[in-house]
Amino acid sequence: MPASRMFFLAALFFLSAVLSFSTGAKADELEESSRTKDLPRGELGKFVALGRDIVQNTNTHPLSRSYVGNALTCSSCHLNAGLNPKAATFLGAATAYPAWSPRERRVITLEDRVLNCFMRSMNGVRPPNGSEVSVAITTYITWLSNGERMRMNPDAPLGPNHVEPLSIDASKADSTRGKALYADHCASCHGDNGSGSDDGPPVWGDESYNAGAGLSHVDKLAAWLKVAMPLDDPYLSEQQALDIAAFVNSQPRPKFVLVEHLPKSERPDKHPPKK
Ligand code: HEC
Ligand code: HEC
Repeated sequence: MPASRMFFLAALFFLSAVLSFSTGAKADELEESSRTKDLPRGELGKFVALGRDIVQNTNTHPLSRSYVGNALTCSSCHLNAGLNPKAATFLGAATAYPAWSPRERRVITLEDRVLNCFMRSMNGVRPPNGSEVSVAITTYITWLSNGERMRMNPDAPLGPNHVEPLSIDASKADSTRGKALYADHCASCHGDNGSGSDDGPPVWGDESYNAGAGLSHVDKLAAWLKVAMPLDDPYLSEQQALDIAAFVNSQPRPKFVLVEHLPKSERPDKHPPKK
């Protein structure tokens, strides 16, 4: 083969490699493929399935319920076990870890991120690293990125398909308008008093996410509502989502005191023995 032709082929090969490298799969394509893709063989596949089960039944599953302090499951916010491509999806998320966490001022792993949601969004206690519940959930979420390109996130513990912030400023929120909108668009499923019904989990009060959760920030809740609620037909405008978020987060919910959510062995001893 003449040298010029070899060079041409090599260049072509290089170009196609670059192209396939730069077109990371979109969340909706990933959603389709993860519905149909087979579980890994053997014990690993069983752990993926176990993790999915826990994500969908977190507050009742025997491996996770003792770590949960409210009426939610991971799937209450990571809709459809994280397969909904818009509402805090788990699709592609594992590719971003380990990632820098500005909140904790350290690099965290995917497992840390999973466990933090137990303390805050689930108002519960952090399961131990390496415990069966922790490994199962982390295995499931990692499986949803199987075959994807790594792109570790140096700015935040968030995957490539995370919820986009709204384009309007959170200071434009009006919770009085939000109260009326809540009654019209949300109360039928989440109750007039926010405590939930057969059709939707609690959105404030003792059984909801605590004041340390991501959704306790008006801007984050608004961005999530825009793509997630009302369930199955999210039609709110940005302004409506913001007003409703301001109202929902002005209602009472559990406070967040970090040490109360750590396992007993990791809590600083209030009465250390005298030396
Ligand atoms: C009250 C709502 C809520 C609940 C319940 C909840 N989370 Fe989250 N979680 C969030 C939000 C909001 C984010 C930020 C996601 C975004 O911006 O796309 C997040 C982020 C995450 C991330 C990082 C995603 C990424 O893109 O890197 C993981 C992993 C995660 N949660 C796991 C869990 C697990 C496991 C559970 C159950 C034990 C859980 N979460 C329960 C709201 C919740
Ligand atoms: C048709 C019933 C329905 C309507 C209407 C609805 N939701 Fe939901 N919502 C749900 C369900 C069901 C879930 C839990 C999803 C799951 O487990 O699959 C949920 C989850 C949530 C969550 C996260 C979990 C929690 O309870 O904190 C919030 C916050 C929320 N909805 C707020 C709202 C707001 C605000 C509105 C009005 C804009 C609204 N929803 C409209 C059914 C509904």
